[in-house]
Amino acid sequence: MINTVDAKHNLHSGIFHPVLRQWQSPNVEITVNNLMYPIFISDEQDAKEAIASMPGVFRYGINHVRKLLQPLVSKGLQSILLFGVSKHLKKDHIGSNADSVQNPIIQTVPLIRQWFPNLLIACDVCLCPYTIHGHCGILNEDGSINNKASIERISEVALAYAKVGAQIVAPSDMMDGRIGAIKKKLIETGLVNKVAVLSYAVKFASGFYGPFRDASQSAPKFGDRKCYQLPPGSNGLAARAAARDVSEGADMLMVKPGLPYLDVVRQTKDAHPEYPMFVYQVSGEYAMLYHGAQNGAINLKNVLNEVLLSMRRAGADCIITYFTPLILDMLQPKSKC
Ligand code: PBG
Repeated sequence: MINTVDAKHNLHSGIFHPVLRQWQSPNVEITVNNLMYPIFISDEQDAKEAIASMPGVFRYGINHVRKLLQPLVSKGLQSILLFGVSKHLKKDHIGSNADSVQNPIIQTVPLIRQWFPNLLIACDVCLCPYTIHGHCGILNEDGSINNKASIERISEVALAYAKVGAQIVAPSDMMDGRIGAIKKKLIETGLVNKVAVLSYAVKFASGFYGPFRDASQSAPKFGDRKCYQLPPGSNGLAARAAARDVSEGADMLMVKPGLPYLDVVRQTKDAHPEYPMFVYQVSGEYAMLYHGAQNGAINLKNVLNEVLLSMRRAGADCIITYFTPLILDMLQPKSKC
């Protein structure tokens, strides 16, 4: 029988004080460095439009962006991830408006660079908000993905965002070969040392993206994304996808969604410890916590803190989360959360 109070088996003596507890969790603190804030930028310049499936999250027109960011930057916000939303722009088969002069990302990035010179700007790169079929690449006649055309177009769009001042381009389309294609364009144009590539390397075909597709109005019109996003049970493909993107020149890796895939976060971080590891707490994870708290099942701040710590414990260096404004408040010295 183990004597629970003998010196070696007693764990309580190491955690009775907050500082002791911090020492027992040395690498899992949450700071402003560990957060990236995703923002939906609409082509409707004066819009501040609530998103029904993501209470508390809005689509912002360019005229609201400065007001939105100012208080967050003063609380320490360091990086943002921008998604374009096309309400009025025409959609077509190749996503022409992903990088046209009317595109909200193309218009907004230079202004944000001017307003907040120290804020690091990442841009999601995908065709789905701009294609008529809502798929992330260019399709053949039979509805299958045309890989060559897709990665050519995706890399064109990434380059356009880089040219207007994005410091990170983050392709979320999951087409084979897109990291290499983007890097090639960045090298050819001499932008390679000014723009980092954050690969959504390990992106699963997930039901947790539901609210996002409402937010960015990018749901596929037919079929699904199972042919280009990873099957949820597959850690083998997850490992191969990360290794491939590393070999094509990715600067940072991401696993997405977060909470249901923390084993994959750990696996990816262990396989590529020299690459910053990102975890995306996606729209469905946001909605789940929001509604759970709203209905009195959980305490939002407690559970959010626990989830963020679990992501850090699994190996995440940076967490992309819609809760960033709340977390910044939680991190302010006065509120002892
Ligand atoms: C689009 C894209 C999606 C998300 C980020 N980029 C949706 C999808 O792949 O279906 C999901 C983000 C979220 O759910 O918060 N390529």
